[in-house]
Amino acid sequence: MSQIVDEIKQLAKEKDAVILAHYYVNGDVQDVADYVGDSFYLAQMAREDPRKTIVFCGVTFMGESASILNPDKTVIVPDASALCPMAMMVNKEKVAEMREKYDDLAVVSYINSYAETKTLADVCVTSSNAVKIVKQLPQKNIYCIPDGNLSRYIAKQVPEKNVIPGFGYCHVHDDMRYEDVEDMREAHPNAEVLAHPECRMEVLDEADFIGSTKAIINHAVNSDRDEFIVFTESGVGHELQKLAPEKKFYFMGEGYQCKNMKKITLESLRDCLKAGGPVLKVEEDVRLKAVPSLERMLELGSN
Ligand code: 13P
Ligand code: SF4
Repeated sequence: MSQIVDEIKQLAKEKDAVILAHYYVNGDVQDVADYVGDSFYLAQMAREDPRKTIVFCGVTFMGESASILNPDKTVIVPDASALCPMAMMVNKEKVAEMREKYDDLAVVSYINSYAETKTLADVCVTSSNAVKIVKQLPQKNIYCIPDGNLSRYIAKQVPEKNVIPGFGYCHVHDDMRYEDVEDMREAHPNAEVLAHPECRMEVLDEADFIGSTKAIINHAVNSDRDEFIVFTESGVGHELQKLAPEKKFYFMGEGYQCKNMKKITLESLRDCLKAGGPVLKVEEDVRLKAVPSLERMLELGSN
């Protein structure tokens, strides 16, 4: 084990800290984490693990959600500048307008959003539970923010609802196009196409399987096929290669990486453990208003 890995493990032990990492962060950071997963799994583990400090290796909305759900724990992040641009693509006035327009409306916020947005929502969702949760909502009209692509995917899966998409998008996934699927299929004719629901419908319509990062990994590992074209951030390739070293995975190039996730390094992880910060803390009045939408997600998503 390298010196820095030893140091991180020792510091985590001393500080009673659990290290959570999303599949999009650098592979060496994933390797040192206690839990690696998709957004829903990590939100669950932040709640379930008894340790007093959570180190969240991912973009800040993830740590912020952990902090909202666990007020008795300290949540620290290796890089507080690792923001998710999509999480900010929300217009508060538009939400109020929708509430005014429809009596029978649920505001559904993707977990990729900041605390203030969560205060406006009836429930939060992640890519792994969005369809399941929207199906369970009593309301007919669903205003789904911020991700328009995820909203259109939900709309297709839950045709009995009137899903109104938000205007946000993840630039990493939204840049992947129909022509890329065509080119990749031509280059790898025996590969199965797997896609994340943050992709455009023109990509999803061509995919053989659609799911969250964790669902994509489970599908590829358990499939009897041995080649896969994967339309999501290439960080998931680390776990895929680990779990299925004999299989081949093809991703879009380096230009399709999430630069914010890649800000998390072993050095920044070690330094934040050493310093005990930066700490992610939401104002208590905001936290109290944001917590019900996240709690409802944990409840409906686990049903
Ligand atoms: P999941 O890991 O929940 O599929 O989310 C993907 C993502 O974009 C996180 O930022
Ligand atoms: Fe945000 Fe997209 Fe990066 Fe996920 S991959 S953190 S949605 S920019």
